Amino acid sequence: MSDLSRRDFLKGLAVGGTVGYFAMAGVSSTVMKNTFIPPAKVGTEDIGECKSVSVKVISETSWFNNPLLLEDIKKAGGLLVNQYEIPWTNTGVEEGWKGDNAGGYATLIEVEQLDGSKRKFLLDTGWNVDWTDECFKREGLDKMLANGEIEFLIISHEHFDHYWGIESTLKHRPDIPIIVPKGFYPEGFELLKGAEFPKCHLSNKVPHTGPLEVRESGKVHKIMPGVASITFDVPIITRVFGEEVLVFNVKDKGIGIVTGCCHMGIISLMEHVKSTLKGGDKIYAVQGGLHISPFEDWDPQYDDLVLALHHYGIERLGCNHCTGYITAEKMVAANLPVIKGTAQFKSKRDIYLGNGDSMTF
Ligand SMILES: [Fe+2]
Ligand SMILES: [Fe+2]
Repeated sequence: MSDLSRRDFLKGLAVGGTVGYFAMAGVSSTVMKNTFIPPAKVGTEDIGECKSVSVKVISETSWFNNPLLLEDIKKAGGLLVNQYEIPWTNTGVEEGWKGDNAGGYATLIEVEQLDGSKRKFLLDTGWNVDWTDECFKREGLDKMLANGEIEFLIISHEHFDHYWGIESTLKHRPDIPIIVPKGFYPEGFELLKGAEFPKCHLSNKVPHTGPLEVRESGKVHKIMPGVASITFDVPIITRVFGEEVLVFNVKDKGIGIVTGCCHMGIISLMEHVKSTLKGGDKIYAVQGGLHISPFEDWDPQYDDLVLALHHYGIERLGCNHCTGYITAEKMVAANLPVIKGTAQFKSKRDIYLGNGDSMTF
């Protein structure tokens, strides 16, 4: 042990001993913690402020039948198999969309700036083009894209359910600016140019003609006052890499986080936001897929994860998609502020925000 680490070790031991003494003397461990352990560092990166954020779930039904999706992955060789090499079931699925198990994930975001002006953009663009077209039509996104109301499309990550429905966006506006996180594979860029991948029943017939930005990881990318994105280097199942998350700073409320899948883990994400952003010690709202138990396979360790969320003082929790229904039940039981949905447009339950539902923060 070097001198320095020995000193630290002894210092730690002394603090531990002191805490033990005070604990014996009836002083609470919380008081001890606050006295001896310095509070976690809060970030300094200033992203400015916005007035409010409205998040509309266009589709959170990434696929319609969970066991069938898992079966497709298993048959292809498991969770590490390249998503473009998996023959996803696209016919004969009774609960699917016209027999196809593919649905998709897409979210419309509207930001009200401090001067009252409103700006819209899209997070993700679904999987099944036919299903995504239907959802876009239902929410008027087809017109919003065509008339330029949607400023840009940001892709959270390359996963089939978030990105493969790119044609649904491009057919209305081929030159829309697109932002993707670092880590996209060559197939992802080919798809954007217009390509066909028969094995996984994927194609895009409308080449992208507008600007494309690939965002470096480990940085806060400012988008507009009070809005930024953070990209994480994270290896993800079915050979995907990197995920980008949206962060907001809402005046008089605090930080809002909007995710696609949250493959980096919700606690890691919130700790990162806290230690990076100015105002990160007040995370007011979280929305999106939280990737806790997407296949409803509950593990007791997730109970700790749900309870740990209390630590952040979140006031509005708009989860869905890969969060999982059991997770949502546990969150409600733990008195976390889960916002209910309306179970419309093929969203199965109202326990969390579903298709066509929205939340504002
Ligand atoms: Fe994902
Ligand atoms: Fe997802």
